[in-house]
Amino acid sequence: MHTKLIMSSSSLLVTFLSLLLLHSSPLVISQSAPVFSPIDKDDSTGLYTITIYLKTLLQPSKLHLDVGSFLPWYDCARHYKSSTYQPVIYNSSLCLDLDTKAYGNCFRPPAPGCSNDTCMFFPENPVTRKIATGLLLTDKFALPIAQKQFQLGKVSQIVLSCTDPNKYSRIYRGLAKGSTGLASLGRFNYSLSAQISRSSSSPWIFALCLPSSSKAPGIALFNSPGPYNFSPGIDISRSLTYTPLILGPRSADTQIFYWYKSPDYYIGLTSFKVSQRLVSLNQTLLAIDENGMGGTKLSSSAPYTVLQTSIFNALKDAFVKESVRYNLTEVKPVAPFGLCYAADKIQSTRLGPAVPTINLVLHNSQVVWSIYGSNSMVNVPNNGVDTLCLGFVDGGLNTRTSIVIGGYQMKDTLLQFDLVRDRLGFSSSLLVQSTNCANFSF
Ligand SMILES: *[C@@H]1O[C@H](CO)[C@@H](O)[C@H](O)[C@H]1NC(C)=O
Ligand SMILES: *[C@@H]1O[C@H](CO)[C@@H](O)[C@H](O)[C@H]1NC(C)=O
Ligand SMILES: *[C@@H]1O[C@H](CO)[C@@H](O)[C@H](O)[C@H]1NC(C)=O
Ligand SMILES: *[C@@H]1O[C@H](CO)[C@@H](O)[C@H](O)[C@H]1NC(C)=O
Ligand SMILES: *[C@@H]1O[C@H](CO)[C@@H](O)[C@H](O)[C@H]1NC(C)=O
Repeated sequence: MHTKLIMSSSSLLVTFLSLLLLHSSPLVISQSAPVFSPIDKDDSTGLYTITIYLKTLLQPSKLHLDVGSFLPWYDCARHYKSSTYQPVIYNSSLCLDLDTKAYGNCFRPPAPGCSNDTCMFFPENPVTRKIATGLLLTDKFALPIAQKQFQLGKVSQIVLSCTDPNKYSRIYRGLAKGSTGLASLGRFNYSLSAQISRSSSSPWIFALCLPSSSKAPGIALFNSPGPYNFSPGIDISRSLTYTPLILGPRSADTQIFYWYKSPDYYIGLTSFKVSQRLVSLNQTLLAIDENGMGGTKLSSSAPYTVLQTSIFNALKDAFVKESVRYNLTEVKPVAPFGLCYAADKIQSTRLGPAVPTINLVLHNSQVVWSIYGSNSMVNVPNNGVDTLCLGFVDGGLNTRTSIVIGGYQMKDTLLQFDLVRDRLGFSSSLLVQSTNCANFSF
């Protein structure tokens, strides 16, 4: 009887909300209209969150942004009140399609994330690679419409995994501060980006623009091949460069889901060019082997690009040689970086500190992602002396992935993930076009 009461009062509220939405929208908006989330930067980790609307009533929910990863997951134990959640029963077509090969029971009172004969998934922290267990549920979700900014789009069903409350600190530690779950945007049929596109029958294409500061958010656009309008009146989709996305045979980082293909976005980096100096790299390390080791991928869960030792040393040596022409004074490096300069001697330009440009040469020598000072040099406080460090990190000799392109190198750059044509579109620094990721025009 108690349950019935809650149900009926919630459906009243739902009706009320839909009326509100109806009245505020005289225009009929196509179901596939692009939707968006702001991307916020967390200064304590240098990582990012997005916000989606979840449950009934729809509530904004902050999730750690990871461009790889399989299924979204959420803290159902601490943050869940909803009248529309449903456990995903083992043997249901959804569970079979997800192919998680696991199910679980729960011996506490029934609650979100606690039910019997339920499809199970192993949430994985993309920063620490710690793993928990979790039961699956479905519920309602929505995102605001990009042309409207303050109006939510179609309300659809999402499937996500709940994190076990006993493993709370283990699974959330290291994520962007304030995250109540994971926004997995990976190459997986039930990643958040795949679910958003499928729910509105849109092509699986999304774009990310990571902000450079915690003060003004960037933007994630879903269901959108472009235009991407930024003030002052520039459509960034017209100036993108493309490189194929390479499908990893299996995820190098995940030990459990060995039967899935990799959810990571790999690209075919072949060399670096520092100014005009070509840096040749060990091609064996740049290829992905049958176990998913090696290669170059993008990760928003790494604050700085991480390089295998031999690649790091090659880049560093070339940078040092080229910086002779820039009058730079090397100082003792500050961890985690390996090359730092006194900041006072470095001129600043509209593309950041004046240092040699690092070009990422992709599948052919004409296709180049340029990294200028604003994306290569990190200001590090060092005993009161202003220091600028090369924002690349030595990941050791035995990295699983040889090059992991991190957030600092991707900020103020528009990245389009096109899973229809299996390609990545990139803008290089938006500062070149006198705009940045906080300048999206709604
Ligand atoms: C699951 O089944 C067990 C055994 O029948 C029962 O004790 C338990 O309360 C059930 N759990 C839930 C969440 O319904
Ligand atoms: C799933 O279905 C199979 C075959 O019908 C059955 O043997 C099994 O007990 C079912 N599992 C659960 C958890 O219901
Ligand atoms: C993913 O979904 C698409 C469309 O529903 C389907 O054709 C494809 O087989 C699915 N892939 C996997 C690996 O399940
Ligand atoms: C390139 O890397 C592979 C894999 O780590 C290694 O076995 C090989 O010796 C390296 N080649 C050179 C020329 O350093
Ligand atoms: C390099 O530094 C010297 C001495 O501080 C200065 O005279 C010179 O103009 C600088 N050159 C450049 C290219 O900045």
